[in-house]
Amino acid sequence: MKTFYSNFSNTLSGTFRVPGDKSISHRSIMLGSLAKGTTTVTGFLEAEDALSTLKAFQSMGVKIEQPSVGQVKIHGVGLRGLKQAENDIYLGNSGTSMRLLAGLLAGQSFDTVLTGDASLTKRPMRRVLDPLSSMGARVESSEKGTAPLTIKGGFNLSPIDYEMPMGSAQVKSCLLLAGLYAKGITKVTEPTITRDHTEQMLKGFGYKVERVGYTVSIEGGGELTATDIDVPGDISSAAFLIVAACITEGSDITLKHVGVNPTRTGVIDILLQMGANINLENRQVIGGEQVADIRIKSSQLKGIEIPDELVALAIDEFPVLFIAAAYAEGTTILSGAAELRVKESDRISAMADGLHRVGVDAQATDDGMIIKGGSVTGGIVESFDDHRIAMAFAVAGLRSEKLIQINNCENVNTSFPGFVELANECGFKIKYNE
Ligand code: S3P
Repeated sequence: MKTFYSNFSNTLSGTFRVPGDKSISHRSIMLGSLAKGTTTVTGFLEAEDALSTLKAFQSMGVKIEQPSVGQVKIHGVGLRGLKQAENDIYLGNSGTSMRLLAGLLAGQSFDTVLTGDASLTKRPMRRVLDPLSSMGARVESSEKGTAPLTIKGGFNLSPIDYEMPMGSAQVKSCLLLAGLYAKGITKVTEPTITRDHTEQMLKGFGYKVERVGYTVSIEGGGELTATDIDVPGDISSAAFLIVAACITEGSDITLKHVGVNPTRTGVIDILLQMGANINLENRQVIGGEQVADIRIKSSQLKGIEIPDELVALAIDEFPVLFIAAAYAEGTTILSGAAELRVKESDRISAMADGLHRVGVDAQATDDGMIIKGGSVTGGIVESFDDHRIAMAFAVAGLRSEKLIQINNCENVNTSFPGFVELANECGFKIKYNE
């Protein structure tokens, strides 16, 4: 069992680059595999989740090379060129792999079984299985609607006009990928804007996708044409260092080449409202994705009521935002975030549990949290097998009165390989044993 020990640190400084964006890395493999021609990806996230997607496509007959770290060359087979995998496809901890693949595989001529680890096989899959069934797909799950999923091939898909009950980019993307195989126009309406990497990347591969308000539509039967992809740094990984620099007096760090797609920057907007000192420099648009260098200087944060419209745009960053709230002056209130309960762990109860253990006054609610900022004493917390819970408490240890010990941190490798090394280069004082 890997344990982190995070100690008090005086200040953080320097210029760094965080690993590649996880969402974009997954999609680069998926669309590169389904395209005609060779796609070269740079900045690919070589972490367990994205590698699960890569291996899944290799097992379906796609030649994918990794000539050097972060570089991937995908020899696309076209929309109809995938082959049946010899075995069940194991996707580890990766919800994105499972939900997006379910849509894409529903359009194939062969059957596939998707499995995952203990956490992934507990996560709700009906949110994709129900609309896929309405499109004519045949997918079997456990009685509880969880993986393993058996996706039957050979069924013609019909387009749907679907109103999503929850804000979820995975559900939206699943249906758009199934829509590539449906005859006619598939329309998906989201209740709130969620990350749009699938739409941006489909366009990058020459496929027409339209958005009107909250509705995205795609017509089946087209073709994807290979293109090169530059994966920017993952703002969800950057978020740990951003909050760290905010709360650690005298800090000044710059994170180079981070993805700042406006459907992902809720964390920056929330921190700015809390009084953070964050600036975006060198803004560029690469392959439809906005990229910038992010400079963060420390400042005294204050508690806020988090605006509803920012919740989906910061959905993966709440564990570390709760840490920001714990160090802020005053009370921070989050509501409308029930989705946090069905992530890699139940992040509302996992964070409330950890915050209590390190002496923070936090109250979990059905769909959020109320945190009274000001004092973090330290103690021993559990990661609940969730990478973002582990890294959030590593950030908390920077300024706590006593050290914070975080149990069970292997999972950090699913999204942020080299986290401890990079954090310590910045000025963190994390030790670990295995
Ligand atoms: C993701 C969408 C989000 C996010 C996840 C990655 C994606 O999940 O939490 O880490 O790449 O589409 P939901 O769609 O469940 O909100």
